[in-house]
Amino acid sequence: MWSVRMRASKFENDSEKHISGAEGIYDLVNIERALKEFFKRALTHSKGQPDKIVFTVEKIYEPIKKIEVLPVKTIFCKSPEEAFNKVRENLLMLGISEKSISKAFEVIRNCKMRGASLIDINTTERLEKDKQRGVRVSRIQMDKKTRNRILRKIRRLSSNPQRVIEAITIASKVAYLNEIIAEICISDNPDYTTGYIASRNFGYLRITNIKNQGDERGGRVFFVKSPVDIEKVVSFLEKTPVLVI
Ligand code: COA
Repeated sequence: MWSVRMRASKFENDSEKHISGAEGIYDLVNIERALKEFFKRALTHSKGQPDKIVFTVEKIYEPIKKIEVLPVKTIFCKSPEEAFNKVRENLLMLGISEKSISKAFEVIRNCKMRGASLIDINTTERLEKDKQRGVRVSRIQMDKKTRNRILRKIRRLSSNPQRVIEAITIASKVAYLNEIIAEICISDNPDYTTGYIASRNFGYLRITNIKNQGDERGGRVFFVKSPVDIEKVVSFLEKTPVLVI
């Protein structure tokens, strides 16, 4: 099997701005189709047209770990305030403190990271080594049957079901780790106002109107409980190939 990845960026104000990314795990005969799909995606993103597109096609030598998909539910909220209360309620039930929840929102609103932040729920400290980079979740794919089953469920609820599938794939890999208690994600796309929280305990909860339309702030936070082997966690998230079934 092969890991196929795409990232598209644009040089703007003296730096490379990330426009979009995509990835999956494929057998050799399906790589060409994936590349075509990713190329189209790179050129049609609402963040604009890229001036650089990088494709990586890499053979996977390790065994691919199978992980069960999280159950998916949608919580309909009318405003970011109502959404915040729902998030708070669910995270408090997992033993995550008010302080850690506030810290997560602060990080998501104020820090433009290239990946996710890891917050220690004991100290509210950020544990990732490089605070600008953060941690990424990579080498992932959702099984076709699982994907189709979830698509049937969410198609009428989401304007961008493919994006939801990708987020569920990421969240399922993240939630598999015992070290991670929960995740919160808010998109940095100004038009996409549905976020989510996820955990092994309550699954993947889509939260509508988690931010106002037009708000460009977004990000991902993983809640962990110290002591934790950060290197092991990051290596699993970034490098271990996973098929979500
Ligand atoms: N946001 C911003 N910049 C990104 C990025 C992202 N999601 N993904 C890659 N980049 C840029 C960074 O400059 C990065 O350098 P860095 O490692 O110092 O940050 C550079 O591209 C190379 O990144 P790399 O991860 O090696 O690229 P890749 O081609 O192997 O994979 C993706 C690209 C897009 C498939 C992958 O990074 C990704 O986004 N995975 C899934 C989702 C995810 O984890 N998103 C981030 C959490 S908020």
